[in-house]
Amino acid sequence: MSGVNEIRSAFLTFFERNGHTIVPSSPLVPRNDPTLMFTNAGMVQFKNVFTGVEKRPYSRAVTAQKCVRAGGKHNDLDNVGYTARHHTFFEMLGNFSFGDYFKENAIDLAWRLVTKEFGLPAERLTVTVYSEDDDAFALWKKIAGLPDSRIIRISTHDNFWAMGDTGPCGPCSEIFYDHGDKIPGGPPGSADADGDRFIEIWNLVFMQYEQLPSERLDLPRPSIDTGMGLERIAAVLQGTHDNYEIDLFQALIQAVVDRTGVDPNGPMKASHRVIADHLRASAFLIADGVLPSNEGRGYVLRRIMRRAMRHAELLGAREPLMFKLVPTLVREMGQAYPELVRAEALIGETLRLEETRFRKTLERGLAILEEEARDLGRGDSLSGETAFTLYDTYGFPLDLTQDALKARGVGVDLDAFNAAMERQREKARASWAGSGEAATETVWFTLRENFGPTEFLGYETETAEGEVLALVKDGIQADSLAKGEAGAVILNQTPFYGESGGQVGDTGVMVGEGVRFRVTATNKKAGDVFVHSGTVEEGTLKPGQPLSLEVDHGRRSDIRRNHSATHLLHEALRQVLGDHVAQKGSMVAPDRLRFDFSHPKKMSDEEIARVEEIANAQVLENTPVTTRLMAVDDAIASGARALFGEKYGDEVRVVAMGDASNALGWSVELCGGTHVRRTGDIGLIFIDQEAGVAAGVRRIEAMTGAAARHHLVGASKTLAEIGAQIRVPAPQVPEQVAKLIDERKQLERELGEARRKLAMGGGGASGAADDVRTVGDVKLFARTVSGIEVKDLKSLADEAKKQIGSGVVAIVGVTADGKAGVVVGVTKDLVDRFSAVDLVRAGSAALGGKGGGGRPDMAQAGGPDGGKADAALDAIAAALGAANGAAQKAG
Ligand code: ALA
Repeated sequence: MSGVNEIRSAFLTFFERNGHTIVPSSPLVPRNDPTLMFTNAGMVQFKNVFTGVEKRPYSRAVTAQKCVRAGGKHNDLDNVGYTARHHTFFEMLGNFSFGDYFKENAIDLAWRLVTKEFGLPAERLTVTVYSEDDDAFALWKKIAGLPDSRIIRISTHDNFWAMGDTGPCGPCSEIFYDHGDKIPGGPPGSADADGDRFIEIWNLVFMQYEQLPSERLDLPRPSIDTGMGLERIAAVLQGTHDNYEIDLFQALIQAVVDRTGVDPNGPMKASHRVIADHLRASAFLIADGVLPSNEGRGYVLRRIMRRAMRHAELLGAREPLMFKLVPTLVREMGQAYPELVRAEALIGETLRLEETRFRKTLERGLAILEEEARDLGRGDSLSGETAFTLYDTYGFPLDLTQDALKARGVGVDLDAFNAAMERQREKARASWAGSGEAATETVWFTLRENFGPTEFLGYETETAEGEVLALVKDGIQADSLAKGEAGAVILNQTPFYGESGGQVGDTGVMVGEGVRFRVTATNKKAGDVFVHSGTVEEGTLKPGQPLSLEVDHGRRSDIRRNHSATHLLHEALRQVLGDHVAQKGSMVAPDRLRFDFSHPKKMSDEEIARVEEIANAQVLENTPVTTRLMAVDDAIASGARALFGEKYGDEVRVVAMGDASNALGWSVELCGGTHVRRTGDIGLIFIDQEAGVAAGVRRIEAMTGAAARHHLVGASKTLAEIGAQIRVPAPQVPEQVAKLIDERKQLERELGEARRKLAMGGGGASGAADDVRTVGDVKLFARTVSGIEVKDLKSLADEAKKQIGSGVVAIVGVTADGKAGVVVGVTKDLVDRFSAVDLVRAGSAALGGKGGGGRPDMAQAGGPDGGKADAALDAIAAALGAANGAAQKAG
């Protein structure tokens, strides 16, 4: 047992044999601690278990935990490469007891592992205990049989371990390995303890307290937290005191040597080490969802990447180098950390992109640096202005400039650098104040300026912890939000997706001590400030409060499905309709998706069916959905679909999915949204609508997953019910319904005919002859009918016209609900003398109605009062008489 992978396994299985549960490493971005930039110890994921807030199904655990110590307080970046044991990324092996065993067992387990399992000679080992911890002193004596001289009492904070300013803490005891007197250095606590001879290999923390801002509490039960640097113990077991000589680092360094031909042990030794170390940190951070940016975690990653890339340049690499090392890293560590394998493409492309871009500016920047630093010597400082220009214009992180000058003993004027930085912020502030949006929504810009962007964790997780940075109520910042109050919460980081790119924002809940806030909408303001709107359901919310953030998972899953389905439908539409199909708009909600695209005419049913078929075939392929970060030009050149006219940053997320027929995937789009892991997660895609929204733009609406299934099941049930009612099996329903409709039309025709006959045949109260009066020289046929639909009155009038040959016809039809319709017809020979429209209006007025319309030979009107049917006929007769008299006078 000597390779890093075997040592890691040996540690885990030793504790597993001793009743511990092997728990996977938590991600490098802590989900449960908003105050921490990166996970920096094994106990971070168990923080709330120690304090009793969180329960786990085990009381003993063992882990190999990914850790990063770069950025924030413990910034080891500058030293990395130049020392034997500094790393930005390292693995911490640890065993944990949550109120289970305590000091005695912890010491016993540690001693057995180190001396028996790892076979280290006892005489090489020395331990330290906290000066007041007599128990630990006695236990080491009893269990390990160490002489008093090799149990050293240390009174400093070195032997009192705390997670941070607050959190679980306790006295600790460390195990040191003595590399022997060939190496300079003294035992712990001695004047030359800093030498390389005595190396701390394991820290056992006797967790007893929880440090709060104002007081220190006892933990519910004493616990154990230990940390052993895997790289250190591997060095000891491989007979070296230099971590970079272990097998894992040698493999990485060899990969660099293979590509540069530069001697790893010559003058460029540090550069090899910087590259090997930073490759690990970069790859693991990218795999955990951090991408290079100019803020927060992304900026720490960018600094690490660029520092390595400058050292690649120093080794004479003319082409991007880092991405070529990824396969070696994955081979060495992929088995223990499968996330590396999953993210291999993303890691490689992110590194290649960053290095390609960085190289362009590196040369110019270095030339400027060279020029400005030419006359500087040991102890001098580079001007802060120059360092700032390098930072601002050439993308040189400050520590890269410092690193480049380090060999010559030249520093940087930090005060002037910071002043230049502040001046630039001032300028940015001024430009915001002038922008249109700032006028109406100043508060978001002020928050952006004070707190920076919100870090979005939601690609990787739907639960996390965040700290309240600010509260907003009615458009202004508030000191608190009390129970029942509505407002907005700004956090330092969030898993809530802010509405953008057509995808609706997340909803969910935020819970802290005694307080709960219901998130009903999430938006992005001032570019990248995430605004969580909602209501306080319990307690009072205040800035500074830590909150557990939980996205509504079911809703988010539905949204993911709909977003990924949108991509598949987009590609399917192009395949079916042609290359002219371009996205014009999109809406991705939990219950449905809407996609607008350019296409000149309505889609046929057959086209819709084919689009649906093609998209669903990709669902059934169940291929992985991958995300890459690419330069926008590269992405578009490789065929990724982008929105025309959309402004993208230099770097874009590229989402690929489906059966890979081109280099990247079946569907490849620039997209910042959240997606399913595999296309099969979509379940089912169902297009339920196609319509036009503007000239040349069509819209489809679709559902996925359970919504699609419920819809289809519902439709199928309805069909079955119809089939049962009309007594045919479902497949025959359309034919049978068509038949029934035909029959019904036929029956209606026959019924109408019969009614007409009945009405005109004088079967009513009055005989046919009674219906014809004479008004002056004009025959007037006047009749009231019932049981005839108003729409049929006209055909009755036509018939009556035929019967009288020459004259005027007035028929009032009384409907079942007591209203009336009235029709007046004038035979051809009389239309010059009488207007049916004028006559019908007289009838309508009598029925309590208004107006009426039609042609001179046939007009129709209605009225509410069917009881006045006879009066209406009389009114028409009177109007006819009046018109006749006037006509005759005029004649
Ligand atoms: N948490 C302890 C450390 O990080 C073990 O050293």
